[in-house]
Amino acid sequence: MSDTPTVLFACIHNSGRSVAAQKLAQRYAGDRVRVLSAGSEPGSGVNPAVAEVLAERGIGTDDHTPTLLDYDLVEGCDVVITMGCGETCPVFPGKRYEDWELTDPKGQPIDVVRGIVDDIDARVRTLLAELIPDLPIPPEGRVTSADQPRSEPRLSALEWPVRTERLVLRPATPADVSSTWEYRSLREFSEWTTRSPASLDEHTAHFTAPESLAKTLVVELGSRVIGDLMVSVQDGWAQTDVADQARGVQAELGWGLDPEHTGHGYATEAVQAMLRICFDGLRLRRVTASCFADNVPSWRLMERVGMRREEYAVRDSLHRSGAWLDGMTYALLADEWRARVATNDTSR
Ligand SMILES: CC(C)(COP(=O)(O)OP(=O)(O)OC[C@H]1O[C@@H](n2cnc3c(N)ncnc32)[C@H](O)[C@@H]1OP(=O)(O)O)[C@@H](O)C(=O)NCCC(=O)NCCS
Repeated sequence: MSDTPTVLFACIHNSGRSVAAQKLAQRYAGDRVRVLSAGSEPGSGVNPAVAEVLAERGIGTDDHTPTLLDYDLVEGCDVVITMGCGETCPVFPGKRYEDWELTDPKGQPIDVVRGIVDDIDARVRTLLAELIPDLPIPPEGRVTSADQPRSEPRLSALEWPVRTERLVLRPATPADVSSTWEYRSLREFSEWTTRSPASLDEHTAHFTAPESLAKTLVVELGSRVIGDLMVSVQDGWAQTDVADQARGVQAELGWGLDPEHTGHGYATEAVQAMLRICFDGLRLRRVTASCFADNVPSWRLMERVGMRREEYAVRDSLHRSGAWLDGMTYALLADEWRARVATNDTSR
């Protein structure tokens, strides 16, 4: 066996068991082992429950594409672990084969899937300890995202553009100043927004500041910018001794559409995509949004995308008219959003 052994995890669809094994092995072994996975009848994506359980442990699966189990793949491996596809897996002399009897997570409730992933986790640890005796494997027990040093989630680290049925979302650039000014300069637009720049220069200075660009997405319809979104990543509240684990775990969201394009569900479509970006892309645990209670289209939008009203504050927000008005805050947790997505309840 080479210094960097190659391990192949194979199941039927390469969407559940073998993905969990591959991801866990990669987490523990890093570049000390080359880890592959494949399926005898590759599925179309990762089993959502397995993806959720791995996400709970800080492991993303967005980059996984089910792969066909074929002769060439098996031939290039040192160790082949089958999980329900044993009889279809080619056998070559000189390789180590093992068959792991595991429950198929397909159609199983999330608690059962957690148990299956625990089982896979224990077997992966044992296998790696045998293959690389000096490999430091974290102690028994679930590895969570808290065990990983958390780097600040950044929009620029994701893949762009993001396309929805009718729209394209992408990070804002300085070239978007004039198209966003077209609607941001309208009184109708800025009635309830935090800022109301008095001039194009003022808008340009704020919009092109690196910290603004880093949290702004623009929404395109055809080739036209019709709105923009804000994803401002923040720390969660935490006791000081665990504050490290609350860094960059949530975001405050904001939105605005050119009034010419309101009333067609574009904001709903864009914000639904933004939630996916926050929870699947940035792996945040919670998002919030606030508005004046009088900004009915804005809080109706929050409710349409499934956000929960958490605060109604009486006369806590100063409007530029000089009046102290009521304010509202809505929020949504990653697991609430995943449950909605799983039931396809993403719009009302
Ligand atoms: C907040 C804001 C983005 C909401 O825009 P919106 O057009 O109401 O929201 P959508 O684009 O999702 O459209 C929803 C409306 O279109 C209708 N609609 C039509 N087709 C639709 C579809 N396919 N899907 C969903 N809604 C659809 C909905 O019924 C809804 O109308 P209703 O509120 O009269 O029932 C917009 O008012 C805005 O930009 N305001 C100015 C900036 C601002 O205040 N920002 C927020 C600061 S806190």
